Parts: sequence; structure tokens; C-alpha cells
Amino acid sequence: MKETILVTGGTGFIGSHTTVELQNAGYEVVIADNLSNSSADVIDGIEKITGIRPAFEKVDLRDFDATEALFRKYPRIRGIIHFAASKAVGESVEKPLLYYRNNIISLVNLLELMPKYEVKGIIFSSSCTVYGQPDVLPVTEESPIKKAESPYGNTKQINEEIIQDTVKSGSPIKSIILRYFNPIGSHPTAIIGEMPNGVPQNLIPYLTQTAIGIRECLSVFGDDYDTPDGSCIRDYIYVVDLAKAHVSAMTRIMEDQIEEPVEIYNIGTGRGTSVLELINAFEKATGVRLNYKIVGRRAGDIEKVWGNVDKANQKLGWRADTPLEEVLATAWRWQVALRERGVM
Ligand code: UFG
Repeated sequence: MKETILVTGGTGFIGSHTTVELQNAGYEVVIADNLSNSSADVIDGIEKITGIRPAFEKVDLRDFDATEALFRKYPRIRGIIHFAASKAVGESVEKPLLYYRNNIISLVNLLELMPKYEVKGIIFSSSCTVYGQPDVLPVTEESPIKKAESPYGNTKQINEEIIQDTVKSGSPIKSIILRYFNPIGSHPTAIIGEMPNGVPQNLIPYLTQTAIGIRECLSVFGDDYDTPDGSCIRDYIYVVDLAKAHVSAMTRIMEDQIEEPVEIYNIGTGRGTSVLELINAFEKATGVRLNYKIVGRRAGDIEKVWGNVDKANQKLGWRADTPLEEVLATAWRWQVALRERGVM
């Protein structure tokens, strides 16, 4: 058995898929989650897929003492993957202090505790949102950071700086910052997947809920952008491929292959797909016809962004290689599974 890894937010969408891949790779996992936006049932799902039940602690990482108790209880933790965060862009505009408290205090607590409990490294979930609308595409890790459009985006930028400053100050820790593009899809078993709260804000859950009849019609936000078909372009990355990037990054830290104390990687496919192309691919992959209409632009949307992922391909020895149609089929299978289980 390899090292023990603390996965914060491990019952969430990306955290649960990453726990599966960590366990498949031989790591022991402790999940910490306050269940504010997820369910403990996910632990059963992870066990069903991998045959291993990860340790689970219901902990609020804003609580320093409770967080320290976690490291005392599991002295073998050597790495952290920090997913736990609030992530709704619109909500963050309405409740900025909630976002600053949730997303920043928890990271500060973890960074303070790491040296004392001999935790070697932390992987931080950042986002391509830090680039805003890049001037040059595909966007590389060296592209300038643009002023954040929302408090949510700002917490990602601030947290990246907190990590950099902490390491610069001489803290004996290593960090890999992963800037995700748009994570989509679900585990091929349809046992775990994305569970949006209420009306989905993101494209894929809205699309699959429309396809199954929970929503009447998908609104495509704008067809007058400066793109080939006029709809926005994103780099959609399969959540299982994304999960595997975390395993590669953690192994890089654990096996002392990391070359700088803080490394930053774009994690995407390197390809851009428009909203209309995505709808076509979904219909082709599933044979399901989607009811959609073009409406006006959504405030704050980036026109087009996709990543240059050469650095991750080379240094992490990782590649997102699941074809888009296959990914969309997993999203659909998950939506159907939720219906069969009577969840929605
Ligand atoms: N879209 C629609 N209709 C919808 C929902 C989305 O047309 O009902 C379009 C959007 O306009 C955008 C694309 O689908 O062009 C993707 O939108 P998402 O909301 O799924 O994703 P975003 O790229 O806007 O946002 C994502 C994450 C954020 C993160 C941001 C930048 O959800 O957390 O990427 O990293 F901040």
C-alpha cells in the first residue's frame, strides 16, 4: 500500500472520481467533507466501484481544531488533494464573504498544519477561470492572470498566491496547482457522478436533465460570438481523465520527481468545442434528440477558451484521451441511472 492521501471534498463530483483512481493506484484515502453540497452515500458508491471503503470524516475545514484532530487521528497522511470549496459563480457574487471564508480559511488551515504533521505535498484545484478571456489561444500556464470576474474566481487566484507565498517563506512543503478546464461526464459504471443542487447552472447537467424531461428546453447562451458557429467554446475534459491527472501529480510529489516547489499545470484536452458542437455530439452519442433554443448571451461568459496541455502531457506523463462522444454517453448513463434509482 502506498502513502495515505487526504482528499478534502472527497464526496463531491471531482473528489469522488479522484478517490476511485487513487485507490485503484494503490493509495490509501481519507476523505474529509462537511457534506454541505454532497452526500455520504457517495462513500458506498466508491466502495462498490473499487472494493475498498475509504475512511470518511465529516469535518469542516474552516475549524482549525477539528482539522488538526484529523491529522492526529491519521498520522500516516503524507499528501493532500484539496477539492473542498464552494463553486457557484452566481452565488459567490451574492455572498462574497461566504466564499472568502469557505474557500480561503480551509486552505490556510491545511497549509499551517502540513509541516507539523509531516505532510509532504498538496494538490490544489484551480481553474482556467484565472486566465479570463485569454489574448492568445490555446492558453498556456505562462499566460497572464486576468482580474477575476467573480468572488469565486478571485478565491482561486488568491489561493494560488497563498500557496506560492507559503512555499516562498520556506515552508517545507511541495505543491502542484491544477488549472482545470470544464470537467464533465461520470464514472462509466454510473455509480458516481455529478449531483447539482437545484436548477443546474452548468451546461452538461442542464443538458442531460433536459434530455430526460426534467427541464423543458436547454437555452444556448448566445450564437453571435466570434467563433465559427457563433456559440461559446470550451475545453471539456472527462472527469475520470481529470481524476487520473491528480494521481499522476500526487505520484510526482510522493516520488520526489517534482522540479520546483510549486508547479502549475493546465488540465484539459487541448481542444475547443462549441456549445452547438457539443449538443450535436450528445445527440450522436446517445441517439436522444435535445430540445434547445438560442437565447441571449449570459452575463460574464468567456467567449472562447481552451488549453495548451503540453506541459501536463510531458511532465505528468498524462493525457486526456477519452473521446467526447464516449464522455457524453457517460453523462447520459448517469442521468438515466438517477432516474432508475428514483433520485430525480
Ligand atoms: N451554457 C449554455 N446554456 C446553459 C449553461 C451553459 O449555453 O444552460 C453555455 C455557457 O454559455 C458556456 C458553456 O455552456 O458557453 C459552458 O458553461 P458552464 O456554465 O458549464 O461552464 P463555464 O465555462 O461557464 O464555467 C465553468 C465552471 C466555473 C468556472 C468556469 C471557468 O462552471 O466554475 O468554468 O473556469 F469558473
